[in-house]
Amino acid sequence: MRRRGTAPAEGLTVVTGASGGIGAALVDSLARPGARLVITARRADALDRVAEQARARGAQVSVRVCDLRDEDAVARLAALILEHDGVPDTVICCAGRSLHRPLARSFARPDDLGRLSAVNLVGTAGLILALLEPMCAAGRGTVVAVTSAAARIPAPGWAAYTASKAGLDSWLRSIRPDAARCGVRIAIAEVPLVATTMSSPLYGAAPRGALSPQQGSAFVLRALRPHRTLVSPLWARIAAPIAQAAPAAGARAAGRIGRLAVRFARRDR
Ligand SMILES: NC(=O)c1ccc[n+]([C@@H]2O[C@H](COP(=O)([O-])OP(=O)(O)OC[C@H]3O[C@@H](n4cnc5c(N)ncnc54)[C@H](OP(=O)(O)O)[C@@H]3O)[C@@H](O)[C@H]2O)c1
Repeated sequence: MRRRGTAPAEGLTVVTGASGGIGAALVDSLARPGARLVITARRADALDRVAEQARARGAQVSVRVCDLRDEDAVARLAALILEHDGVPDTVICCAGRSLHRPLARSFARPDDLGRLSAVNLVGTAGLILALLEPMCAAGRGTVVAVTSAAARIPAPGWAAYTASKAGLDSWLRSIRPDAARCGVRIAIAEVPLVATTMSSPLYGAAPRGALSPQQGSAFVLRALRPHRTLVSPLWARIAAPIAQAAPAAGARAAGRIGRLAVRFARRDR
């Protein structure tokens, strides 16, 4: 029999990138009595603050520090989760890093692609793989990966970022049928502009038209609704096939629209 005042234990949810921005807002939204959360990122102090707030709302929270660029650390993280927290029902991969660098300033920076892919693609996919095996064995679960509304719309200046996000998008779409056969749903959240520390260097601290982290979190959580496989803004769902059908003109147009969007968001005249 349940004790008075306690909710039934829920399935385990893992949130990466939980130390700030959209990830921290996700933890805040998910925190309620009975919720069981594993939150991870590199900064232990920031994770502790997020965990404290979630516990104050009645959630049970494990803090697991991990640098997704470190393959061994990712394997250790998955092992720790499985041993101490259990098999996740939901994995929300929100960790990521971004970069805007035009080609003219990229010639001497071949490392950009590796640095961004290490987090956005390889580290994220590595963690998903390690958790997917027991989830498949359990025959249930949902993986939500946060990519970007720009992931399928290549634009000048965003080469390394969109390549890493498009790589994750393509990898997830490729494993989705096999995962579905063993009962695990894979959903992709193509997030639009959100006012966080990630967007501030280019768009400013309070970009016009951007979602707040809480709105960004609500956007991502739509991917948890039954049968959802993609959550994406309408403009991105229209622009993505156009960019595929007319790659050269599409990238030029995306670059022009992107520059206008930056000026609009920064409130430049
Ligand atoms: N903000 C936007 O406009 C926007 C638009 C489209 C998509 N997105 C996507 O949304 C997600 C969240 O972004 P955000 O805006 O919330 O950015 P943010 O505030 O910079 O948060 C990024 C999160 O990722 C974690 N992270 C970064 N590098 C990591 C690493 N090597 N290992 C483990 N964790 C790492 C950070 O934690 P630590 O620093 O503690 O490690 C932090 O918790 C990202 O995947 C991003 O690409 C954002």
